Amino acid sequence: MDATIKLLSILLYSAIGSVLGEFCDRGTGECKQLTAADCPAVFYNLQIIGYNNVKYCDEFNDIVCCPLPLNAQQKNVKPMETTRMFEKECRRYNDVRSSCRQTPLIVDGTKAEPREFPFMALLGVRQPDSSVISWDCGGTLIHPKFVLTAAHCLATTETKEQRLDANFKSPKYVVRLGELDYSSTEDDAQPQDFQLVNYVVHPSFEEAADGGIHHDIALLELDRNATLNEYVAPACLPPSSGNEHFYLTAAGWGHTSNSGQKSSHLLKVALQRYNEEICMARLENRIVPRTQFCAGAGSDVTMADTCNGDSGGPIFVQHPAYNCLKQIIGITSYGLICGNYKFPSVYTKLHLYTDWIEQIVWGV
Ligand SMILES: *[C@@H]1O[C@H](CO)[C@@H](O)[C@H](O)[C@H]1NC(C)=O
Repeated sequence: MDATIKLLSILLYSAIGSVLGEFCDRGTGECKQLTAADCPAVFYNLQIIGYNNVKYCDEFNDIVCCPLPLNAQQKNVKPMETTRMFEKECRRYNDVRSSCRQTPLIVDGTKAEPREFPFMALLGVRQPDSSVISWDCGGTLIHPKFVLTAAHCLATTETKEQRLDANFKSPKYVVRLGELDYSSTEDDAQPQDFQLVNYVVHPSFEEAADGGIHHDIALLELDRNATLNEYVAPACLPPSSGNEHFYLTAAGWGHTSNSGQKSSHLLKVALQRYNEEICMARLENRIVPRTQFCAGAGSDVTMADTCNGDSGGPIFVQHPAYNCLKQIIGITSYGLICGNYKFPSVYTKLHLYTDWIEQIVWGV
């Protein structure tokens, strides 16, 4: 085969999903595309199996573990290596944490404690010839040099090269870690400011005509490693969907697209994840349940009176294995209407993007 064609087909194949054709679920199934032709057994029985019980080989690319007929099942297939790079890193993050602040997570739009969420990042923009920074989005530290945020936070009029070029006259991004109340110098915080050397918007990011936003995820590369301490420490990525978590916490400085209320103090809010039908109904179908979920304050009795987190900021749970760490389940995307429980906010499902993140952050 011609080398170029070979390379192209390899690239195409890996883009579609390199797991196709592999055995899965201890040899009882084979990884196949979820279509009527490739895997009718799952395709036609989705309702019976239940969306949350479908076994995926590659959920992002809709590749499922399709059951094989009994005579074709493989015995003694070794389970695949399951510890991912980001999980090993998470263990290391835990090893270097000497102490942490624990507070009950059932709260409604209250101020975060100092050092409670040391992974919280602020993404700001500084206009040329000005020292004033406008803090517009939130983010999450997931590695000493990388911050996760929402892609729509990076909308610019100039090119990325111009935006990153210190000598080109344009607004410049600033990332701040270790902050609590950015209008105070008396707060118990140890801010560290960074410039960006790069940022990567997900290649499929799109703001659709119906108002929906898809694949709203991006990575920011800082100009140096953050100094990790009690005020600045990374959070962990999720190895699985996190669908089992009904109660989640979001944190942010309350900058939302449709609100004038901004809090200079970091806030936290307890949220409930809604099921697909509720999300679809309340958001008038402007949500893609495969890649997004929605959450809000459960009822109007406990209605949060603050905005439930920054765009770009995280929604997370306590890490199941590590006391001092949080596991990020989603990224706040859109749909925020402050204090109105009827309009849940929409989150990007983080676990679908961990391959993409690993490639950029750890080069694997
Ligand atoms: C930055 O942190 C990473 C991850 O801990 C480490 O591998 C790397 O060597 C550090 N880089 C510098 C310049 O200290």
